[in-house]
Amino acid sequence: MSAAVDSKLEALTQLEQNLNAAPVQRLHHASIDSSGVEVFIKREDLLHPIISGNKWRKLKYILQHALGSGAEHLISMGGPWSNHLHALSFVGQQLGIKTTGIIRGEMPTNKSATLQDMQRWGMDLLFVSRAEFRELRNFHAHDSQPGLDYDGYWIPEGGASTLALKGVAELTDEIGEVKFDTITLACGTGTTLAGLASAAKQNQFLGFAALKGADFLCDDVASLLPSEKHNWSINLDYHFGGFAKTEQRLFDFMLAFETQTSIPLDPIYTGKMMFGLFELIKQGYFASGHKILAIHTGGLQGRAGFQLQSG
Ligand SMILES: Cc1ncc(COP(=O)(O)O)c(C=O)c1O
Repeated sequence: MSAAVDSKLEALTQLEQNLNAAPVQRLHHASIDSSGVEVFIKREDLLHPIISGNKWRKLKYILQHALGSGAEHLISMGGPWSNHLHALSFVGQQLGIKTTGIIRGEMPTNKSATLQDMQRWGMDLLFVSRAEFRELRNFHAHDSQPGLDYDGYWIPEGGASTLALKGVAELTDEIGEVKFDTITLACGTGTTLAGLASAAKQNQFLGFAALKGADFLCDDVASLLPSEKHNWSINLDYHFGGFAKTEQRLFDFMLAFETQTSIPLDPIYTGKMMFGLFELIKQGYFASGHKILAIHTGGLQGRAGFQLQSG
């Protein structure tokens, strides 16, 4: 291995060593405290101010593989508020490696706070039509287009790759000895859910889809797992109209949640997941004595795209 590769891998190790703890905390909230159900939260949002939540977990082994293969350019895709590209551009800057983000839609006159950060951290931004963007979703391998076209290492949207599963699986080691009956999390591509379900021995997982009409997620997750794994399911009811769509009742819930718990949520993923979880608890979906762990998958930078005000 060349000295340049060694030093980049060393920088990645340093980045990991400097991450904060992501503790499991008991959640107290007036609307669930008397439900007979115990709810805990795994604060993956605290890992790092930027590569927080599932971003670090998903990128860790992708980055290790890319750097180890001598890649000098990482290229990936996402929307103008992408948590994934936001984290990737930051890591690229930290590791001294060129990054390119292919962004869905026309270049906006006023760039989102996310796009501005990405540019500040040195990411080249390429804006493509929605049709071209959809086409790019067909490429999964690191040595497929458009990585090949741009002489780079291709990372699929959201970091959805088998290497991501390995990083996410490490999260289960940190959950500790407490036996949770159900572990909940938000789903976009379903990669994080698949990574957790692949590693878990005794837990049952419940994903909440952040997108509308996301039945396909079940096939996607199943395709990433051995056929004998049946320790997961996905609730499709709390998308609030679609990906990144919101309603005032979601904001009201998130703000009340933050007031009571001091834990911020994002409106795209974790807010919808927590709203759905609280609704199910109120409907008596979980038996009394049930122990639930909700995973806070981060994404807080995305809050800047919303006017979070109570109605
Ligand atoms: C904050 C946050 N939570 C959850 C998810 C969903 O993760 P996945 O695409 O692995 O289902 C994402 C997307 O990557 C995300 O940014």
